[in-house]
Amino acid sequence: MIALGCDHGGFALMQEVKKHLEKRGFEYKDFGCDSEESVDYPVYAKAAANAVASGECDRGILICGTGIGISIAANKVKGIRAALCHDCFSAEATREHNDANMLAMGARVIGPGLALKIVDTFLDTPFSNDERHIRRIDMIE
Ligand code: RB5
Repeated sequence: MIALGCDHGGFALMQEVKKHLEKRGFEYKDFGCDSEESVDYPVYAKAAANAVASGECDRGILICGTGIGISIAANKVKGIRAALCHDCFSAEATREHNDANMLAMGARVIGPGLALKIVDTFLDTPFSNDERHIRRIDMIE
């Protein structure tokens, strides 16, 4: 189950992400927002992040205008490793090295074509399970 959270800046791109997840057969839980009307991104970041931290959802995808505010807010939740990625290399590396459990993107930074490739890379890349990466993640916690 994928937790989704966005603000007004990310709303349109999140609709594309939802269609893509459906096509790929992923289930998701949408924590809002529900339109392009101005809202406060920490509300949606926290709701989706809490669902991942509690185990209700396995991973999460967050979108705001830049991806920055929503990732900062999500990372305040214990157990969340939200990675802001605007390229596939970073999305792959953050899964392999950081076992990132949330992906954040900025809808004003990249277009839907690249965003969906980043989503695929994030969802399809397993954690390396290397001892050094486990040690470093433990140090974060
Ligand atoms: C909203 O205008 C914008 O500030 C927000 O989407 C995000 O970019 C914040 O980091």
